[in-house]
Amino acid sequence: MRRRVYLAATLVACLLMNGCYRPSPANTANHPDEPMDGWQVYTASCASCHQPDGMGVKDKFPPLAGSEWVTGPATRLIALSLDGVTGPQNVGGVEYRGIMPAWGSALTDSQLAAALTYARQTWGNAAPPVSAMDVYKVRITTAARKTFWTSSELLEMSDPKPTSGNTSSPAHGN
Ligand code: HEC
Repeated sequence: MRRRVYLAATLVACLLMNGCYRPSPANTANHPDEPMDGWQVYTASCASCHQPDGMGVKDKFPPLAGSEWVTGPATRLIALSLDGVTGPQNVGGVEYRGIMPAWGSALTDSQLAAALTYARQTWGNAAPPVSAMDVYKVRITTAARKTFWTSSELLEMSDPKPTSGNTSSPAHGN
């Protein structure tokens, strides 16, 4: 009986801390032709720190909801996700001094594109999607990078100018 209570308590603690969530195999099996599910990738790789609601954890993990790092230039967001970032990083006026891990070797271009598109279009965020090709291009151009980015390096990055299309409409951040 005691043991049961203990087990239940461990399970609750584990769920509360979000530490032991693993999507069930049925959820992870993506047919190669099916579009990648951004929620799935986000939940498995990002939500433990940034939380399922994108609100982060006070003073530890910054929010992705309402963050300009998320909705701003895609190049910056992709680079940050591929190689990680080390603080200080200002997010919505709050300074974070943590380390965001690098995802470049753990996630494929389409997995990362799906997770970033999910983050750019959820919790009130409304930015254009990120494609696997966008991720691929940044992966190639930053291939020499072997350490975390700093905020100031990231802030210098902007998206390439569109090579064709309507020049009278403002660039879309893509
Ligand atoms: C182990 C915890 C952890 C995980 C997992 C994690 N991050 Fe982060 N992330 C951080 C920390 C810490 C920072 C702030 C870094 C700093 O202090 O400079 C950050 C910063 C960011 C930022 C810029 C700041 C902001 O809030 O907008 C983005 C965007 C981001 N992460 C996206 C992601 C995505 C996408 C994933 C999943 C692919 C992910 N993170 C997974 C810890 C994490």
